[in-house]
This record gives sequence, C-alpha cells and structure tokens, in this order.
Amino acid sequence: MSPFLLTRNLPEDATDAALRADVLKGLTGTPKTLPPKWFYDAQGSELFEKITELPEYYPTRAEREILVDRAGEIAAATGARTLVELGSGSSEKTRFLLDALTGLHTYVPVDVSESALTQAGQALVEERPGLDVHALIADFTGGMALPDTPGPRLVAFLGGTIGNLLPAERAGFLASVRALLSPGDALLLGTDLVKDERVLVEAYDDAAGVTAAFNKNVLTVIDRELGADFDPGAFEHVAVWDRDNEWIEMRLRSRTAQTVKVPALDLAVHFAAGEEMRTEVSAKFRRDGVRAELSAAGLELAHWWTDGQGRFALSLSVA
Ligand code: AVJ
Repeated sequence: MSPFLLTRNLPEDATDAALRADVLKGLTGTPKTLPPKWFYDAQGSELFEKITELPEYYPTRAEREILVDRAGEIAAATGARTLVELGSGSSEKTRFLLDALTGLHTYVPVDVSESALTQAGQALVEERPGLDVHALIADFTGGMALPDTPGPRLVAFLGGTIGNLLPAERAGFLASVRALLSPGDALLLGTDLVKDERVLVEAYDDAAGVTAAFNKNVLTVIDRELGADFDPGAFEHVAVWDRDNEWIEMRLRSRTAQTVKVPALDLAVHFAAGEEMRTEVSAKFRRDGVRAELSAAGLELAHWWTDGQGRFALSLSVA
C-alpha cells in the first residue's frame, strides 16, 4: 500500500491558545465578534454537513456541478502532479479532481483538524493505490511550508471558504498562497457569487433551523473549552445581507440583558437585550472583483467556470 504521511505544522496547544486569544479579543471588542473557524468541532462539522444537504444551501451542489463538468479541463490545464487542498475537511468533492488528474503523484490535504485528515487520508490511500497522501496539520491562514513533492502543483481552496476572510485578510492569504507557487503551478479557487438577496439570506437562515443550530454551536464550543456559561437558547440566530460589502453576516442576538462568565479568561461579559454579536462573514463575489484580488496577489486569472445557474464560480489562476 502507498504511504500515508502526517506532518504537524501546528503546536499541539496552538488551537487552545488561538481560541483563547480570539474569544478574549472578540468578546471585549465593540461590536462583539467571534471568528467562524471555531464552529467546526465534531458537532459543528456534522451540522455543516447537514447544511450542505439543505434545499436552501446551494453552494455545495453548485460547486460539485462545476467540478464534475470541468475536472477534465482542470486536469488538462494544470497537468498537476501534486494536488494541495487547503481546508480539505472530508475531501468529499476532491474525489472528482483526483479522478481527473491522471498524472497525480501526491495529494496534500491541509487542515487544522487531525481527525478529519486521518480519516480522509487513510480512506484515500486504500482507494487509490499508487497515490501518496501527505497530510498537513496547519493553519493555512498563517502561511505555511509545503512538503517537497513533484510539480506542477495545483493548490485548491474550495467551498467558498475564502469568503469567511475579511478583505484585508483575503489579500494576505492570497499573497501567502502565491508565495507557495512556482512558475507552472496554479490555484483553483471556489467563490460564491452575488445574487438575489432572498436566495442568499435563505441559504443562511434555512426553514429547518440547521444553520441556526450551527451558529449557536460556537457558544457550546466556548462553554466546553473555556468553561463559559453561554446558554445557546438565550441567543437568536440572525442572517443579514450587507449590500455595501456584498457579504452575508451571521450574528447571534441576545434575547435579554445577560452576563456570561468565561472562567478560563477571567472574564464576565455583559450583553444588552437585542445586542448582536457577529459570528461569520461570508462574502459573495463577482468575476471582476476576483480577478482584481488575484492580480493584486500576483496571480493571473486563466479560467472562470460557473454552474448552469451562475450561482458559484471556480477560477483557475496562475503564478
Ligand atoms: C464552509 C465557509 C463555505 O460560508 O457558506 C454555511 C459556512 N456558514 N452556513 C459558508 C456556512 C453558514 C460556509 N463555508
């Protein structure tokens, strides 16, 4: 059987330290915020999988449609021998790429979740004899070193997760991706597109309440990890379209005036009745904006593919 390697680029306690720093900063700032990366514990990852199956949440299906239709073109355009996938999670959609990339030598899934990497990686080496899997535990928003594997490299960042970064963070992230690429390498980027406000809001405020549970789960994470006494039921899920910034914002609105204790941070936080805390930004894009952001990072847009309904785009850009 071909090798499965796992490299840790993150100290064991990095996650804990980062959570503390983020929660301290976010709960003492005005307005209060929490970064979306803390949604994804086991329960949150399961809720996100459920979101991807909701009738209202189109991005996953739209991106899958593009991958199915265009995997052959992507393979031909890149000739990739190494596929690096940032935020690989369960690697579900990646299979279409892996099937199409006939010359592929190594798959490098990168994620902060060791359990997701081990599960997905082990399954893949069994399914694909001959494929090397070199999983990397790393926070790709921080800039990272890739294992020495054969080029050309294709770096994939799917799902529209780049929309969770604020514009300045996106610029830094794209520059650090650019720094990983040599001539002949490419970036495959998934971006959700600007569309009718009602469609967007419903995708983040579904009728079954799965997204509401996903949003409130971040409070459960903080309760468990930092000993806080957030009552998720004391907050209401809110999804709003910010038309100036062209992003969806998820918030948690305090139903009453309340004080929440966070013992691990020696913190007591007051919420006014109706006060809203931002928990996620999910930016939506247009082709010209994506092209400009890529270009500012030294990447040139080479292909732009959308699903049949023009809801989501995959772009291929080159160094
Ligand atoms: C996984 C970041 C792409 O922003 O659409 C789904 C997360 N948040 N529903 C997104 C999410 C609310 C999702 N990403």
